[in-house]
Amino acid sequence: MNEYDSALIAGLLEGAGLRISKNIEEADFLFYNTCSVREKAEETAIAKISQSRPLKQKNKKLKVIVLGCMAKNKGEQLFEKLPFIDHVIGTDHYRQIPEIVLGAKANERVFTDFDEKENYDGTYAQIQNPFSTSITIQRGCNKRCSYCIVPYVRGNEKNKDPLDILAEVQMSVEKGISEITLLGQTVNAYKKDGETFASLLEKISEINGVKRIRFVSPHPRHYDDELISVLQSNSKICHHVHLPLQSGSDTILKKMRRQYTAEHFLSLIEALRSKDPFYAVTTDIISGFVGETDSDFEKTLEVVKQAQFDNAFMFIYSPRIGTESYLEKEILSQEQKLLRHQQLVEIQNQITSNRSQNMLGRVEEILVERPSSKDPREWMGKTDNFKKVIFKPTSTVSPGDYLTCKINEIRGWTLRGEVLS
Ligand code: 5AD
Ligand code: SF4
Repeated sequence: MNEYDSALIAGLLEGAGLRISKNIEEADFLFYNTCSVREKAEETAIAKISQSRPLKQKNKKLKVIVLGCMAKNKGEQLFEKLPFIDHVIGTDHYRQIPEIVLGAKANERVFTDFDEKENYDGTYAQIQNPFSTSITIQRGCNKRCSYCIVPYVRGNEKNKDPLDILAEVQMSVEKGISEITLLGQTVNAYKKDGETFASLLEKISEINGVKRIRFVSPHPRHYDDELISVLQSNSKICHHVHLPLQSGSDTILKKMRRQYTAEHFLSLIEALRSKDPFYAVTTDIISGFVGETDSDFEKTLEVVKQAQFDNAFMFIYSPRIGTESYLEKEILSQEQKLLRHQQLVEIQNQITSNRSQNMLGRVEEILVERPSSKDPREWMGKTDNFKKVIFKPTSTVSPGDYLTCKINEIRGWTLRGEVLS
């Protein structure tokens, strides 16, 4: 979502006559778009922003601007840690950035109030790459998962006007984009002007030029029969879902206020894979949540084994000030949390590798992305179910081409394919 926001801001600034600098030393403005989800993300952002201090000493006119969730979370306090920065701008004020950095508001430092009405209707992000783009259809979140800072830094859920979304898709395909990724904190809860997430997906799929539709991240609570049926029957919607589990223990899920049980979660995977066993499911899991016992953690490992995720982002619980679970005393030490995390990673890595192995021998359509970073004679593309495939082109290829490949080797987790056509 931050990448999309950065592209949106780039578009707004371009409209105001600015260009992206090729070289950081030549820049007049440095924008840092930040994340607050875990403490580590904020520490990393502060370390990166600090690196701009010497540049500012060299170029007195340089302005350093902090954007995103940490801007909202820390606000004025950021000037204590980073006294050389010029503006702190939260996620509801991006439309005013040209005015803030160039004009009437140049003397104000902090812009972090929520604006319940700002859902960026009528603004379009710069195309992020020549064949694939993301579109934020929903901002903020109405859930209050007890560990999560997002609703406090991004505010309540705001859904973008469906006509605006369709216009953005149309504009994108006219520029040659064929893959669209819809973004939202609980994207499948989307509802606006009589449109549901399922009906929006159908409408997008009817636009000529759209070949692949992806979305991130759905919430397990917001699947109904209509949505599952669209996901299974609409051939343009890719067979990959990133569905955050967080924990496999019902006790912990309840404490996290996740609004589903492990059984419900597993039933969704079963439904999605019932027609296509290769339907990819990836997830997020937190280890060492406050109050997580050995037996709770065992349950997570059990669910992970049953779910057979294609991949997972695995995190160590990070208490965030302002959230409900921050108030609860932690009993687990950092070492214990780390140990659980490592155990989980080990089990999931084996499953990831098995899920890749299962792809051997399959014939897949690949969307070509770029030359491989290791060997420029080889290229990388992705399957419909979001697996990277390395292949040697048999003739000239360009990003955005679709090729048919036979998967004939698996190295580690990486699929290698032979081009058939
Ligand atoms: N600690 C650890 N991980 C967290 N996430 C969100 N909040 C926290 C936290 N306090 C993880 C969740 C979420 C992902 C984006 O970040 O797994 O799905
Ligand atoms: Fe955070 Fe929960 Fe909202 Fe996801 S659904 S952004 S984890 S509060």
